[in-house]
Amino acid sequence: MNKLKINKIINKKNKDPIVCLTSYSKVISKILDKYCDIILVGDSVGMVVYGMKSTREMDIDTMILHCKAVKKSTSKSLVVFDMPYKTYTTKAYAYKNAKRAITQTKCDAVKLEGGKKISHIINFLVKKNIPVMGHIGLLPQSSKNFKFKGQTKSEQNKILQDAISITNAGVFSIVVECVEENLARKITKNVKVPTIGIGASKYCDGQILVTDDMIGLSDIHPKFVKVYANVKKIIEKSVKNYYKDVKSKKFPTSKNIYLLNKNER
Ligand code: KIV
Repeated sequence: MNKLKINKIINKKNKDPIVCLTSYSKVISKILDKYCDIILVGDSVGMVVYGMKSTREMDIDTMILHCKAVKKSTSKSLVVFDMPYKTYTTKAYAYKNAKRAITQTKCDAVKLEGGKKISHIINFLVKKNIPVMGHIGLLPQSSKNFKFKGQTKSEQNKILQDAISITNAGVFSIVVECVEENLARKITKNVKVPTIGIGASKYCDGQILVTDDMIGLSDIHPKFVKVYANVKKIIEKSVKNYYKDVKSKKFPTSKNIYLLNKNER
């Protein structure tokens, strides 16, 4: 575990915007590592890679495999392991699972979804030297609907109290998902650790997106995503051209074959 990397993130609060993205694999991680302060191995992998209906279906063994691949391909970024649904229901169970994730993947921290309700669990992990990233606002593991949060005064107060409660419990940063702009600003002002927004305005200390969404590789298009490329279109075009080449026997060419006595392997 890397205390230095964690402190570097905390020290960016109010100074240097924190760049975060998700990754689940080697090639993407190698690219992200050059630019990201934090790489999250998100349980969104369940929906993005495995076509699951929700992140609730993701299990810890699959998360560990993806996190190992990410951690092996990075050196600079802080790698965060997203604890799957129902893996942190009690203090002891959360510790057992978080310890296993950290030992097996060598990741730098874990992320837990929830506010005041899970503060005692977060505090337990932190006291056991496990760095924890919080996640408040819209919580994909438990939300019944995917509307933005902070639409009523009582919801705003609850989410602000959640942020304060998990900060006091010891998180080193907080993902703030899909909350109204003024609430995001208020949370960022009222907690001493960096806030990382996703659909939570520019008034956060950093931003995170699901990489597949921002490179145009996924099927979902939430309003808060800025799409920087159309990778799906590039893949489609490549596969179509390959199809045509195979059908017309334009591939393989002389460059793609092996011949005896050519001093090549
Ligand atoms: O699982 C995930 O990718 C996440 C991000 C959306 C923050 O939790």
